[in-house]
Amino acid sequence: MKGNMLAMNKLRVFNMAFLALAASIVIASCGSKSSPGWEYARNMYDPIAYNPDQPNKNFKDGKTAQLPPANTTPVGGFDKLEESYPNTLEGYEAAGKNMSNPLPVTTETLEQGKSLYLNMCSQCHGLNGAGDGAIVKMQKFPPPPSYATGTSSRGGAMKDLTDGKIFHTITYGVNLMGPHRYQLTPNERWKIVMYVHELQKLQ
Ligand code: HEC
Repeated sequence: MKGNMLAMNKLRVFNMAFLALAASIVIASCGSKSSPGWEYARNMYDPIAYNPDQPNKNFKDGKTAQLPPANTTPVGGFDKLEESYPNTLEGYEAAGKNMSNPLPVTTETLEQGKSLYLNMCSQCHGLNGAGDGAIVKMQKFPPPPSYATGTSSRGGAMKDLTDGKIFHTITYGVNLMGPHRYQLTPNERWKIVMYVHELQKLQ
């Protein structure tokens, strides 16, 4: 019994000490507005890596932020197409004549193209490319021309659209269709082109 009381007293002293400590932390953290208060785990404020604006003696010019070496292109950032085939009718026609799909048509690439098409295009163009996607059925959007039976607003039948014309369209968009060059890598676009060719054959 006595031992028990002693243990309870110890616990009480411990509880009081803990409360006092917690209260002092709260008070310390309510200091002046310009002061960060009591800093906890200081090394979380000072990262080990260099900040971009920090001096750095590892480089000749003493700066951390370095320019990329000459003749390099950022990963996934730059599209050769934009140089050779601009977003104009001439660019579209030239792409249609000169570009061809660099990827081999295999069951795998075609399957990937289908899955990308279903995710990125079918909401407008429809599951089979007939121009009856979900957004069109909601009567919120004019139907795009069918890939198999429609006519392109830039002339010719939709079923005759070539690799380059489809790739150019996915890249830059056309009229109500937005560009997709920031959502899809060139390889992903080429896989979709393969699948659109399949849909052009449907009647
Ligand atoms: C927001 C709805 C929408 C989405 C998403 C969309 N399209 Fe379109 N697309 C349209 C409309 C509308 C047109 C008709 C535009 C016009 O010619 O005025 C069109 C036209 C086209 C054409 C015909 C271009 C031409 O030369 O006449 C192709 C090919 C095409 N889309 C492919 C795609 C592919 C592939 C995707 C997915 C990567 C896609 N579209 C995503 C709405 C969409």
